[in-house]
Amino acid sequence: MIIVGLSNSLPVAGLMARKLRAPWFAVEKNHFPDGEIYMRFSKNVKDQHVVLVQSFHPYPQEALIEIVWAAAQSRAQGAKSVVLAAPYLGYVRQDKEFHSGEAVSVRILAGLLSRYVDRIVTIDPHLHRIKDLETVFACPVKVVTANGLLADFIKKNYVGCVVVGPDEESEQWAAAIARSIKVESTVLVKTRFSSQRVRVKLKGDIDVKGKIVVIVDDIISSGKTIAEAAKLMKKFGPKRVVTVSVHGVFAGKAIFWMKKAGVREITSSTTIESAYAKIDVAELLANAVE
Ligand code: R5P
Repeated sequence: MIIVGLSNSLPVAGLMARKLRAPWFAVEKNHFPDGEIYMRFSKNVKDQHVVLVQSFHPYPQEALIEIVWAAAQSRAQGAKSVVLAAPYLGYVRQDKEFHSGEAVSVRILAGLLSRYVDRIVTIDPHLHRIKDLETVFACPVKVVTANGLLADFIKKNYVGCVVVGPDEESEQWAAAIARSIKVESTVLVKTRFSSQRVRVKLKGDIDVKGKIVVIVDDIISSGKTIAEAAKLMKKFGPKRVVTVSVHGVFAGKAIFWMKKAGVREITSSTTIESAYAKIDVAELLANAVE
C-alpha cells in the first residue's frame, strides 16, 4: 500500500502512513499560467494499492479535479487499486432537485468518482434523503464516524457538561455522544430560512445552569446554526458555551458570528485543516482503509 497526500489533507495523509507503516508522498501540484492544474507523482505507484487522501474543503472544485487527476495517474502508472480516503466528502448535500433545473451534485459526483476509484472511505458524510451512499455510487463506500473521538475530547476537556444538538437531525450524534460519556443531552428545533439565516428553539427540557454547554454538530459552515443555538442556551445561565464539530468548514465569517454569539471555544476534527482542528482522525481513517 502507498499513501498519496493531496493538497487539502497532507498532515492527515502523513499520519495515516505512519499508523499503517506505509510509504507516502505528497503530489506535486501547480498551476499553469492560465490556471489549469499541473500534477506530478514523485514516485511510481505501479502494482501498488494506492490510497489517495483528500478532503473537499477548501476549494472543493480544485479538490475534486485533484482527485480525478491523481486517480487517473495512479491507473496510468499501473496501480493495483485506487482508494479515495476523503476525510470530508463534499457535494453530498445537494441530493435532490429542490428547484427545477438544479443539478443534483451527489449523483454527478458519484458517477464521476465511481469511474476513477475502486473504493471510497469517508467520515460522517452529511446525508439527508440518501441514507446509504452505495445506492448512488457504483463503487463500495465505507462510512466511519468520528463520534467516539468527539466524545473522548468532550469527556476529557468539558467535565460537568451537557451536550446540545442544534437541530433535530443532530439528535443521532448528540444523543450517542452524551450516552457514551454519561451526560445529559437535548436537541433544538431549527428552522432554516436561507443559507445564512436560521432560527432555533428548545424542544425538551434540560437544566444547563452552571454547566458547560457543548453544542455538537457534524458540519459548521456559515456558523449561524451554532451562533443561534449559543444565543438561546446562554439565556439559561450556563457556565460557558463551547462547540465541538466533525467538519469545521468555517465559511466566510463563521468564527466571528460564533464568537459574537458567546461561543467561548471552537474545536473540530482534522477532517478539514484549520487552527481549530484538534481532534485527530488519522487513525480512524487508517483503520478504515486497511
Ligand atoms: C445541518 O443540517 C447540519 O447538520 C449543520 O447544522 C449545518 O450544515 C450547519 O450549517 P451552518 O453553519 O451554515 O448554519
